[in-house]
Amino acid sequence: MSAKPAIEGGRPELSEYVPYSRPSLRKEDIEAAVGVLRSQWLTTGPKIRELEEIFAKLVGAREAAAVNSGTAALHLAYDALGLNPGDEVLVPSLTFSATASSVIMAGGTPVAVDVEGESLNISLDDAARYATNRTRAISPVHIGGLPCDMDGILDFTSDNIAVVQDACHAIGAEYKGRPLGGFGFAAAYSFHAVKQVAAGEGGALALNDEEAAEKVRRTRHHGLSTSPGERHGAGASYYYEITGLGYNYRLSDVQAALVISQLERADKDLVKREELATEYDSLLEPLVERELLETIPTPPEVRHARHLYIIKLNLGKLSVGRDRVFAALRAENVGVNVHYIPLYRHPFYRDRFGWDAADFPVTESVFERILSLPMFTELETETVGAVVRAVGKVLTYYKR
Ligand SMILES: Cc1ncc(COP(=O)(O)O)c(C=O)c1O
Repeated sequence: MSAKPAIEGGRPELSEYVPYSRPSLRKEDIEAAVGVLRSQWLTTGPKIRELEEIFAKLVGAREAAAVNSGTAALHLAYDALGLNPGDEVLVPSLTFSATASSVIMAGGTPVAVDVEGESLNISLDDAARYATNRTRAISPVHIGGLPCDMDGILDFTSDNIAVVQDACHAIGAEYKGRPLGGFGFAAAYSFHAVKQVAAGEGGALALNDEEAAEKVRRTRHHGLSTSPGERHGAGASYYYEITGLGYNYRLSDVQAALVISQLERADKDLVKREELATEYDSLLEPLVERELLETIPTPPEVRHARHLYIIKLNLGKLSVGRDRVFAALRAENVGVNVHYIPLYRHPFYRDRFGWDAADFPVTESVFERILSLPMFTELETETVGAVVRAVGKVLTYYKR
């Protein structure tokens, strides 16, 4: 007789709720932010330039532009690419809305593409099916931090098709020993509160074209031809020109200081999350052997950024669906989540573009099976053990 899950009247495996993600701000990060609060420059000041230099180097890009969200970074990438009405961008169907909405913001049309069943990343076979002479870009999303097949992505590109990576999960990720920021036209990163490097809100766009970087820096600041720094001081002129439609996508120096401070230990933090992932892999192995679930393999040529730890339930072995397992794990105090509700399931995308579940068979079948388990730098190894015990208890109880 297996133990009773909390949702069926048993006792929760964890005494306190553990979320799927949690920021890990330390004393030094807070001191860095307070240092900015005590200075004269709260925004568009020296911390922005410092962050851009550090970030470009870290992600292996020529340039980086700091902005106030990952969505802003994506929008500015398409703006710099110069999408025209009717221009299409291939995006995976299993992603957060911003991957596609940013294309619309820049005047283009997103075209959803199915994903691969194993990696959950964009399927290049399906992308080939949807490519037309209106395709201007492909936007690989490194889901959970697992790098896409970048050789395949680059082979897919041409003079007309650029790569705009949605690297919002992928700080620290590498493909064949190279950080991702050096691949293609641009890569957008997020510093949202749930991400590995968290500033509450924030983002950065890695670029490999200096002219485009210049344009992005102007466009994030209302399209002004000069920066506040250039207009500051006794000998400086007030003069600027608006050279194009711009936005307020500025990151504050307070947020930049939080990011810089965390980037100093980003590699160490990733090593810690890699250890946690290895612990999950080995503790989940008996459940994999019993065919109750599958884990996602990491190919040897990549470094996974370990933002999410996603499992796939084997529904054929269970008497309930994913949503019951989700509720049962929440009742165990395990903050599981689902990444993501596919784009075509949202009324906006369905109505606007006529996207239909039948066109995305792989996404549709994996969506019914996926769960994200807690994964963040400060997660304790013992908690991973308790989470896996909870998963084992719930799946064993509902085993067919
Ligand atoms: C895959 C993906 N793309 C884009 C974004 C947008 O990032 P932000 O929330 O910083 O705008 C997110 C984050 O939520 C994301 O997960």
